[in-house]
Amino acid sequence: MYLRNCWYVAGWSRDYERSLKPQKLLGENVVFYRQADGTPVALEDACPHRKLPLSMGQLEGDTVVCGYHGLTFDGTGRCTDSPTQRGMTPRRAVVKSYPVADRYGLLWIWMGDPEQADRDEIFEIENYDNPAWGCTDGGVLSMECNYLWVVDNLLDPSHVAWVHVTSFAGAGTDDQPLTMDKTDRGVIVARWISGAEPSPYYKDLVRFEGACDRLQHYEMCFPAIALNKSIYTPVGTGGPGSEPVEKTYINISYNFMTPIDENTTQYIWFQHRNTDPHDAAISKKMNDGAIMAFHEDKVVLEAVHKGMAEMKTPNIDMGLDLGAKTFRMLLNRRIEAEQDQIAAAE
Ligand code: FES
Ligand SMILES: [Fe+2]
Repeated sequence: MYLRNCWYVAGWSRDYERSLKPQKLLGENVVFYRQADGTPVALEDACPHRKLPLSMGQLEGDTVVCGYHGLTFDGTGRCTDSPTQRGMTPRRAVVKSYPVADRYGLLWIWMGDPEQADRDEIFEIENYDNPAWGCTDGGVLSMECNYLWVVDNLLDPSHVAWVHVTSFAGAGTDDQPLTMDKTDRGVIVARWISGAEPSPYYKDLVRFEGACDRLQHYEMCFPAIALNKSIYTPVGTGGPGSEPVEKTYINISYNFMTPIDENTTQYIWFQHRNTDPHDAAISKKMNDGAIMAFHEDKVVLEAVHKGMAEMKTPNIDMGLDLGAKTFRMLLNRRIEAEQDQIAAAE
């Protein structure tokens, strides 16, 4: 079961062109393309006649022509031609269409009731248009694990001490106390570490000498969007409730998890920082470091998925799991409420 009435990231806008692109999302086969004016389209990737994937057909103008008997559909899923019986288009020759939108360089898709799709509800990236902030190109990774293992991982600031030894680890990431807060959009797990050295990844990015106060802010938002904020500020200027000072370095790593199916996750990310907006070398270095770190996560999470599926003795939970368990509970509640709503409407 997935939360359906919400926006998921389908992919990077740059990867959708004037061609048919099949993708599986939330266990559903979807075909994407762009109309001549650039408008993105997402349709169920199955012809209503014999369910041949429409992605095996042809894009003609703004329509898709089925590769078996030529039924033709426009971007709304309406049948515009049935060449084998012109003038007698079957009434049920309709394809499901999904609301889609380009924003922040990403293509977003609404997997639930199209009537409820509201573009104002697309997750907001603060400061996206702020010229003082710099952005990495980001990337995309397929992980052979359930998306909730990635969600758990991104609510777990402690794993960096073991999984990301050469990048995000640092004094206190293993044992300093964590706070957990529920918000109206999910859960935040955080900790301030005082008087530490910047972690290896941030050492050259931070613009001041000496020790720092460091914030690990791991926030998960429904359905599965993680905002991982790292703050490094001169020692004595950080701590709960502190405001940034001139030298405060902020990087926010945005992570968008979209279930492909129960066992596979599409993981998309980019990073957004409050310094060096036009420095391509810094962007590249940060992105390369992130790619390396996310591959470290991939190895662990794929093995966790397998290990949990094949366990012979019961597993345990620990204190560090509180945020992940809370988020899963809140997400489940939303999924159940949505299912009740769907059942009531039927
Ligand atoms: S399968 Fe598409 S028209 Fe027959
Ligand atoms: Fe990680």
